Amino acid sequence: MVSSSEFSLIGRRGFLRAAALAAATPILTEAHLAHAADKAAIPSGMAQHGQGREVPPPDAVLINANENPLGPSPAACEAIAKITPTGGRYDRMGETAMLAKTFAQQSGLKESHVAVYAGSSDPLHFSVLAFTSPKRSFVTADPSYEAGMRAAETAGAKVVKVPLTANYAHDVKAMVTADPQAGVIYICNPNNPTGTLTSKADIKWALANKPKGSILLVDEAYIHLSEGEDVLDLVAADQDLIVLRTFSKIYGMAGLRCGFAAGRPDLLASLKPFGQNAMAITGSAAARASLLDPDLVPVRKKIIGDTRRETLSWLKANGYKVIGDPQTNCFMIDTGRDGRGVIAALKAKNIYIGRTWPIWPNAVRVSVGTVEEMARFRVAFREVMDMPHQAMLESGEPLNLASLNFPHLS
Ligand SMILES: Cc1ncc(COP(=O)(O)O)c(C=O)c1O
Repeated sequence: MVSSSEFSLIGRRGFLRAAALAAATPILTEAHLAHAADKAAIPSGMAQHGQGREVPPPDAVLINANENPLGPSPAACEAIAKITPTGGRYDRMGETAMLAKTFAQQSGLKESHVAVYAGSSDPLHFSVLAFTSPKRSFVTADPSYEAGMRAAETAGAKVVKVPLTANYAHDVKAMVTADPQAGVIYICNPNNPTGTLTSKADIKWALANKPKGSILLVDEAYIHLSEGEDVLDLVAADQDLIVLRTFSKIYGMAGLRCGFAAGRPDLLASLKPFGQNAMAITGSAAARASLLDPDLVPVRKKIIGDTRRETLSWLKANGYKVIGDPQTNCFMIDTGRDGRGVIAALKAKNIYIGRTWPIWPNAVRVSVGTVEEMARFRVAFREVMDMPHQAMLESGEPLNLASLNFPHLS
């Protein structure tokens, strides 16, 4: 097992390193990455705070950031309304502790194995900063969610990208053997952007065979939308892994900000030097109300799943190539043409879809919106795909990614 003492975070030098890394590392969320695909130039330093971004028109279809158009549940909204008048005080009533307790009880975990954050982006970044270094690499699938890779670069760690298998799943065996000096092996399950699954058997194999001193970082942001099996029981068994959860997806709380890191107490302690701000009581109250609503997950999984299946059936029936067997609220289409051009042409029609990944420049990611939004997407997508390639490229404003504060996307 990894002990935190293997990583020089304890003591003055460790804290100084943590402070320097934390200060140097932008916490990139899906929103940052999605907005970076817009054309607006963001003056350096402003993007962190969401300033300088282009504001989409009110009737735009926003299927670019894997958000949930259903928003917070009625129970969550009620909890927010109820707690808001007490917001002049800090968390006097222990709202965040009650949230951690509820999640721990529901998940078969001890409370010591749960840390609450304002979304899962913070613990994602902090885990990477804590367990990678110039000597310990970050291993990720390709394509996968990019935020951890950016944190690894700040930590001076080597980033090892392992392509997905022929079925578009994580190639777990190749990831585990990719680098004997791995510090973090990141498994996004289901994967963003492909929506494909990694089996629990593979995750167990990875734990048994991973390089000494490394941890698995299993990102379950989309687990509730899929048929995949979660791995919180491996956390309860004190294995070398950290599991990330967020309320931004099925729970519809991206703007309210709430998430968890679940792991052995010594692993969670390694994240602490990077910061752990107090939670907004509204986020904690809404999250707890969401967890206590027994219908929320199954009902939303069905609504979003039905809309996804309907869209995918239409795409396939019309000869478009969907990548893999997507299980979440996003999927990729191999457009067979310049993916950025498709994105720009759709944007000109007021349909904002997600980004491309360098490994597949022709593939675009699309999030699942409402039935009406997906109907508008289908009309516009067909129009764009029917255009001659050059006309399509000319129909959209050129994407000016190089001007953004995310050089990796240019
Ligand atoms: C795979 C994955 N992990 C983590 C996050 C971070 O989400 P948040 O910080 O909103 O909890 C996202 C957001 O889209 C994601 O797709």
